[in-house]
Amino acid sequence: MALLDILCFPDERLRTIAKRVEKITSKHQRLLDDMLETMYAAPGIGLAATQINVHERIIVIDISEDKSNPYCLINPEVISHSGKEKMEEGCLSVPETYGEVERADSVVVKYWDRKGNEIRLEADGLLAVCIQHEIDHLQGKLFVDYLSKLKRDRIRKKLVKQQRLM
Ligand code: NI
Repeated sequence: MALLDILCFPDERLRTIAKRVEKITSKHQRLLDDMLETMYAAPGIGLAATQINVHERIIVIDISEDKSNPYCLINPEVISHSGKEKMEEGCLSVPETYGEVERADSVVVKYWDRKGNEIRLEADGLLAVCIQHEIDHLQGKLFVDYLSKLKRDRIRKKLVKQQRLM
């Protein structure tokens, strides 16, 4: 397994729209393992393939305390949602930055697991927020897009400066 580099805002590659996976191959199995390892090492609770510059509809999530409940979602699609909830969000592509985002409070998501089984998952609370956040990445969207332009510009400046110093 390998740790992958995570793209950081305002990198334009984060704006790429991911393509649907037509067939799960051994390359995808390796990618999922690497994505999980990268997410756990960061540490984070979700990672979309877009963030590691692979533009396929793949995300990994684990909101458990002890890394015991990994989800691999291939071609995820929200098929219904309800309620509204505001939660403070962060993102591995927007380091050390947090902002409140309003999203659906519960979602039903359809996806393939890593074996290609079609799964329908009902999620609420943190898991629902995480799924919506990661699916956004696949459409080239970041949580900072929900904040005011003023806040987003401030975050952009801060991160550009930090990246220059690295
Ligand atoms: Ni993110």
